[in-house]
Amino acid sequence: MSSNSIRVFAPASVSNVGPGFDIMGFAVKFPGDEIIIRKRNDRKLRITKITGVKTKLPMNISQNTAGVAIKAMLKELQVNVGLDIEIHKKMEVGSGIGSSAASAVGAVFAANKLLSLKQSKNQLLNFALAGESIASGAIHADNVAPALFGGFILIRSYNPIDIIRIPTPKNLYCSIVFPQIQIKTIEARRILPAEVNLKTACNQAGNAAGLIAGLITSDFNLIARSLVDHIAEPRRAKLIPIYDQIRNSAFEAGAINCNVTGSGPSMFAFSDSQIKAIKIAQSMEASVKQTNTKCVSYVSKINHIGPKVLD
Ligand code: HSE
Repeated sequence: MSSNSIRVFAPASVSNVGPGFDIMGFAVKFPGDEIIIRKRNDRKLRITKITGVKTKLPMNISQNTAGVAIKAMLKELQVNVGLDIEIHKKMEVGSGIGSSAASAVGAVFAANKLLSLKQSKNQLLNFALAGESIASGAIHADNVAPALFGGFILIRSYNPIDIIRIPTPKNLYCSIVFPQIQIKTIEARRILPAEVNLKTACNQAGNAAGLIAGLITSDFNLIARSLVDHIAEPRRAKLIPIYDQIRNSAFEAGAINCNVTGSGPSMFAFSDSQIKAIKIAQSMEASVKQTNTKCVSYVSKINHIGPKVLD
């Protein structure tokens, strides 16, 4: 890092994690975004470069998640500086693994360091959320919070925001497959029910509590049977034509369970060893490729660090 520029990495994240719609997520080690910020001699905020995605992302600072996040921060803190922002994406937009959150988090994390603004992660969270809301049309922190804090995060409450870090088993591995069909979060939220009935709410709460208990006590069996979403996944599964094939291939390769991440189309599976996680990723990838759909897969442990300065 020079005094005039900084390059940071901000991770992708798996959100919802089965029963935790809008309230649970965890960061992964790879992929993630690289954000470079340089000071300017004037007071302009500009996005100068976006690489790594097929989708055209807005270069307009007020329409881009990274731009909106930084703008919100500078406005709130009354800092008058000019910045050039480069966004190098390592994951596709609309993939369900927190692409917009990684950009927003990377941007505020980088600006905070570069400008020595001394904001805590709790303070940065609000700015990153402002950026995320541009992309998804709603305030949900289950990608932004894990990308920013690292680890497995429970958002116990939104008003006031209450972020709880949940310990996870040391040998918990995640395999992710991204079939290259695009699902926009904003659209995938529109198909969700406005209300759920009491029985569904009870089942969801039981699984959410079970998942947290399973993670804390390293009870893989409990984690496996708790990874069930009664609210979003039944509706969203229909947006992923190869949903059943991906799940079956994950189970065949030894996954303890497999769900949609975020609003999809990516799906993730948990397992208890690296060897199994690699096998599961290969198996999920093969099932997608059988349908002539392009895809990429990732294997990662939980990333407990979150964003980091590269140089
Ligand atoms: N919780 C959000 C949703 C995550 O499911 O809409 C979006 O990535």
